[in-house]
Amino acid sequence: MATSPDQPKPGFSHRTIERNVTLLGLLALITVSIGGIVEIAPLFWVDSTIEKVEGVRPYTPLELAGRNIYIREGCYVCHSQMVRPFKDEVERYGHYSLAAESMYDHPFQWGSKRTGPDLARVGGRYSDEWHREHLKDPRSVVPESIMPGYAFLAEKPLKAGDMRAHLQAMRGVGVPYSDADIAKANDDLTLQATADADASDLQARFPKSQARDFDGNPAMVSEMDALIAYLQMLGTLVDFKAAEAQEQPK
Ligand code: HEC
Repeated sequence: MATSPDQPKPGFSHRTIERNVTLLGLLALITVSIGGIVEIAPLFWVDSTIEKVEGVRPYTPLELAGRNIYIREGCYVCHSQMVRPFKDEVERYGHYSLAAESMYDHPFQWGSKRTGPDLARVGGRYSDEWHREHLKDPRSVVPESIMPGYAFLAEKPLKAGDMRAHLQAMRGVGVPYSDADIAKANDDLTLQATADADASDLQARFPKSQARDFDGNPAMVSEMDALIAYLQMLGTLVDFKAAEAQEQPK
């Protein structure tokens, strides 16, 4: 096709800018900076970018240990932990995820890669026994499952290391663990996985924490205990039913 005869007139136009690398670079920098400032600057003036939500609390030492196993085993490769605000997701998984629900996650487990279902609200959906069977041999409870088995977790004693140091490090990045939480971290870890233990002090510091023998083997605290404790608390901290009832017009 023939080029149009009316080319733009010379002068301070695109033509001038595009032919001068320095000028183009400078103007591009100014444009991008304005966009950057508009996005970033307001964050310096707000106290918090995440609205606090009632019920959200830091992980107990046992849940945190379970979370570490979840990360170590790469469960995030197939599972996300973020219910998006779309009808189909909300109907399948429950209330969409709030930013505050992962405010103490280091690192967070959002993601959009779902070979398996989202796990943000899996807590309380199944019994401990179901999780045990499912983790040992997924096909025993979900015949069509392609999830790998993790039977070895039930045989491995939980070696959590020094949980006090772990909690201390978490506090360093902004998770509000109290001095008591840190001092009692190693004891809390075992206590939460022991059947019939007096967990009232733990539950006072970590509301809604569930204490029992998660793996059904009272002889030891296994990695399975920690992982199931973690799975069973996911998405259970915020009481959405109460919040929705409050929002209903009278
Ligand atoms: C190769 C991909 C893959 C990996 C890795 C994987 N899963 Fe799964 N997971 C699946 C699939 C697919 C399903 C759905 C079928 C089923 O229930 O087994 C599933 C289901 C689940 C469910 C039931 C969810 C529901 O709402 O029904 C849980 C809980 C779960 N996985 C936990 C884990 C944990 C914990 C790990 C890591 C130790 C893990 N998965 C690793 C693929 C995977």
